[in-house]
Amino acid sequence: MKDIVENRQRLSLASKLRIGLLVLKENGPLWCACLGGYYAASAVADRFFKSMDGIRRRTGIPGMNSKALNKAIWEAWDWGGGGDEWTPSDEWKASVMKCVLERHIPTGTRVLEIGPGGGRWTGALIARSASFTAVDISESCVDLCRKKFSHEPKASFIVGSGSDLQGIADSSVDALWSFDVFVHINLAEVQAYADEFHRVMTPGAIGVIHHGSVGGALGGWRSNVTHESFLKTLQDRGFEIVESVLEWQDEGTTHQAGLYKDVITVFKRRS
Ligand SMILES: C[S@@+](CC[C@H](N)C(=O)[O-])C[C@H]1O[C@@H](n2cnc3c(N)ncnc32)[C@H](O)[C@@H]1O
Repeated sequence: MKDIVENRQRLSLASKLRIGLLVLKENGPLWCACLGGYYAASAVADRFFKSMDGIRRRTGIPGMNSKALNKAIWEAWDWGGGGDEWTPSDEWKASVMKCVLERHIPTGTRVLEIGPGGGRWTGALIARSASFTAVDISESCVDLCRKKFSHEPKASFIVGSGSDLQGIADSSVDALWSFDVFVHINLAEVQAYADEFHRVMTPGAIGVIHHGSVGGALGGWRSNVTHESFLKTLQDRGFEIVESVLEWQDEGTTHQAGLYKDVITVFKRRS
């Protein structure tokens, strides 16, 4: 909840009472009653969130991140915003393009995107590619992208199962990109995908994946993946981690990978 100051225990009870009286004097009883209700509801909501998080960790249930739920949600999504509903500012998007996408995805290569959604990054990826394929669990995203990029003969779009890359040939991918997708995918599916990356990526191929780092502990409908489990999944399959960033600097501005301590990991299939 936005207004709750996490470290408010630094105020003594006497100070809190004094401040409470001042708030009452300045704002009146109705507003203060609403504030009290807001604080109480926030505390209850936080309790429920912690219980949900604990149950998910203890029992291994998928929470909101199963393949079936991802498919159902993204097929029903209104893609009118093209995915830019997750773009905090034009400056941020331009910086992702410049400092992440253009820095790591080489031009003239065979590019694979996982989860293009409404095609927020797809046009830029196609422009850099010699050939381009995208795989998405959602049929409606694939239909939308097929229409949106129908003028691009080198681009093709495939509906996937959510954990494999059927239809993508062995050793046929030089660069892999996925943004705002693996944040929602649980570890079991990430591990299955990582096996597939190893199969489809050529030696020396580069992968750029945006993913969660705290196992969903901060909300944001993030999956159970942590930074450690994501890196280990790649390292166990022999990938080299090039870098893994929470934020980066661009012309004096610090940009973040995402809202919930998301990370962008760049990795390489060893030659
Ligand atoms: C939040 S949207 C992001 C779309 C786009 N990448 C962007 O940044 O705007 C998540 C996308 O990932 C796709 N997706 C979710 N789970 C997936 C999975 N297991 N495999 C492939 N695609 C998946 C959804 O269908 C949707 O297109």
